[in-house]
Parts: sequence; C-alpha cells; structure tokens
Amino acid sequence: MTEARLPDFPAGFTWGVSTAAYQIEGAARTDGRGPSIWDTFSHTPGRIADGSTGDVACDHYHRYAEDVSLLAGLGVSAYRFSIAWPRIQPGGTGPADPRGLAFYDRLVDALLERQIDPVATLLHFDLPQALEDKGGWLTRDTAHRFAEYAELVGARLGDRVTLWITLNEPFVHMTLGYATGAHAPGHARLFGALPVAHHQLLGHGLAVAALRRHTASPITISNNYSPVWLRGDTDADRAAGTAYDALHNRLFTDPLFGRGYPEALDIDPALIRDGDLAAIAAPIDALGVNYYNPTGVRAPDGDAPLPFELVPLDGYPTTSFDTPVAPEGLHELLTSLRRTYAGDLPPVHVTEGGCSYDDVLRADGTCHDPDRVAYLAAHLRAVRQAMDDGVDVRGYFVWSLLDNFEWAEGFTKRFGLVHVDFDTQVRTPKTSYTWYRDLIARRP
Ligand code: FCB
Repeated sequence: MTEARLPDFPAGFTWGVSTAAYQIEGAARTDGRGPSIWDTFSHTPGRIADGSTGDVACDHYHRYAEDVSLLAGLGVSAYRFSIAWPRIQPGGTGPADPRGLAFYDRLVDALLERQIDPVATLLHFDLPQALEDKGGWLTRDTAHRFAEYAELVGARLGDRVTLWITLNEPFVHMTLGYATGAHAPGHARLFGALPVAHHQLLGHGLAVAALRRHTASPITISNNYSPVWLRGDTDADRAAGTAYDALHNRLFTDPLFGRGYPEALDIDPALIRDGDLAAIAAPIDALGVNYYNPTGVRAPDGDAPLPFELVPLDGYPTTSFDTPVAPEGLHELLTSLRRTYAGDLPPVHVTEGGCSYDDVLRADGTCHDPDRVAYLAAHLRAVRQAMDDGVDVRGYFVWSLLDNFEWAEGFTKRFGLVHVDFDTQVRTPKTSYTWYRDLIARRP
C-alpha cells in the first residue's frame, strides 16, 4: 500500500506519535524516582516474557534530546508522552519532587522549541507502589491521591501542555492488572476487579477538575476500544457480545457522558457515593480513542467463569502479537461511537494505533517494516472514511515512536517507527518512519 493512495486530511489534522514513561524512560532509580507497580511486577520472576524490566528501557530519561530530534525529523505536530507519577511523588502522596517535575519541564520546552505540541498523559499504568500497598485502584482513596498528583503536574505544566490525558486505558489496566493478573499489579480477581473501574473513573473526573484550575488546554482520557465481532449467531452468542461490549467499550465511556454504568454490568451500588457520577461526567473536550483490533466473541461453554468467550478472528493477517489486522474495525468503532453518544461525543483523537512485527536491523544498517506501513496506511484510510461519515476526528497518534518495553511481553514485541538496539541504545529509523515523515510533509 502506498502513501499516494491515501486521501487528503483537513488542514490542522494532528499527526502524532505516542509513548509511555515506563516503556521508554529507564532511569528507574534516578533523581528520587520511587518504585511503581511495574518495577515490582517486572522484577518478579516469571511475570515478563523475556525476564526483562524497564530499569533501562530506551534510556529516554537521559536521551530525551536525541528522541526529540527524532520527533522533529519526523515532522509530527504533536507528541504524546506520559508522566511517571513516581518521579513526581515517589511515595504517591506529599509534595512534588522538583527533580521529577524538572525532567518534564525540560522535555516540554524541548518539544515547543521544535514546534511540537506536548500531549501529556498523567498516568499510563505506572501507579506508585506505595499506593498499591494501600490497595491501589481497589480503594477509593487512590482517586483522591490521583487528583492531588494532577494538581501538582497541572500547576507546573498547565501553561504549556496543549492536550491533557488523565488516564491511559483504564479498561486494560483493570482487566489485565486486576482481573487476569497479566499486568501489574498482578491481581486475578475476575469480576472482583470492577471497583477498579469506578475508582479510576472517579480519579479521572477529579483530575479533570484539578487540571482545569491550571490550564486552558483541552482535557481528555484515552480509552482502549475494540468492536465486538460475534462468532456465533445464537441468542446466547448475542448476549455474550452485549456483555463483552459493556465491559470493554461502554464501562469507561457511558459514565463520562452522564449515562451511568451499563446495565449489563453488576457495579456494586455501595461503591457509588453521592456526587460521584456527576464528578465522573465532568465535561471533557475530546475523547481519546486507542484502537488496535476487533475482538471475536461467542457464548462460553457450560459453567465457564465469564459470561463470554474470546475467540480468534480467522482469515485476517496477524501481527507478531497474533492480533488480527482489521482496519475496518476502526471505521466501525468511530462511527459507532458517534451513533451511540451522538451530540455528547466531543471531537475524537485516535491517541494510539500501531502494530508489532519482528523487525530486523540488517547488516547494512536499514530496517524494513512494510507491514507496518501497510497497517498505518490502511488505518488512516479508515479514519478518513469515518470523517467522511461525519465523525469529528482531529488527530492520529502512532504507537509508538520507539521500540520499547512492551509490558508483560518485555522487549519481544517491537512497535516503533524507530528500531532500538537495547544493548547499545542505537536508534535506527525504520522504513515506516520515512513513510510517515513523507506523508506528514505532504499534508497541509
Ligand atoms: C496499549 C498500551 C500501550 C502499548 C500498546 C501496544 O494497550 O496503552 O502502552 O503497550 O498497547
């Protein structure tokens, strides 16, 4: 697939890339940074596929200037990064560590010098371990701690960050972190994880209010969405689809737009105090949409513990993560968000999209990733088509700038436009980097 076949995008469309603190920064014990749940988890034997940790990762903490040059070379209009809460409040509470704030201050200024809009995510999975020790997102108090942290960061960067994202993928954090245990903090409570949804959403709402005191920039949240593709057409299959859709797509969205929790889910009413739903529905200026692939769903067998079964979607090309490449799912998702939330839906930013492949650095120093170019081109076409169909999409952020620490997969999955040699820290732009650069250069 070639760039030439991509349709035009409106002037002002945001071309971006995304990263997250724990996946790239390294410097895990530098400048007073406290431990996060991901430090604990990655240092626990058996948790990470290749036994690696984010102790060094891409060493971005020390190499951010080089990485900002890579961004400038790419010509992106915006860069989405996340702030490591344990650098700002090493123990999850109390005053800010000036060294932590200073790092993001330097990063933001370096971006602005290169005319790149800084898009900051307050929390991308790396909760301070000290808060997990007190119950993490299973406890309501964490929502209040998150709002205090938002206040500290907002006070320092509120004048320069151009788009704020409170939480990254609360669904993924709840399911992998608290329901299945595949991610930090590693709890396997199945539906016992649901309080994590309410507390994260409450934290989001309180953080919106805290940020508003310090910034005039738009504020959003980045949700992970996946259209449900039924594999089976019995009533039981349809019920399974409804249950999974409620969990993955509606649980973290309906309450944002004042609709409360989806009926299909059994949220304990005792969790919800007066004023919570109003706090959660604090107006947001955009919706952050992370899309990778649709999910195949059918009714579970017999007395399975869950009301749905997730099944592979056959007949699609797959990434090295074994996920199906289905760009039409992005079009379906965007148009269905518009249908479902209608006038309540603010402008959308696709805050993540991308794919992992086994990219190889050749002896001649090049790294060719034609499958990633095809993936991105097809997904951008799907975005453009959704815009033609009336969805107000303002930007697309490729996941990710750099190959990085891919959570439980360690360094075994490469998502970057730039190849990273994790022994030498040498960065090598892949073909997809050149492709994205040329595409951006030719756009208004
Ligand atoms: C998303 C995460 C991001 C990255 C991509 C591949 O779920 O937000 O950190 O791991 O998946």
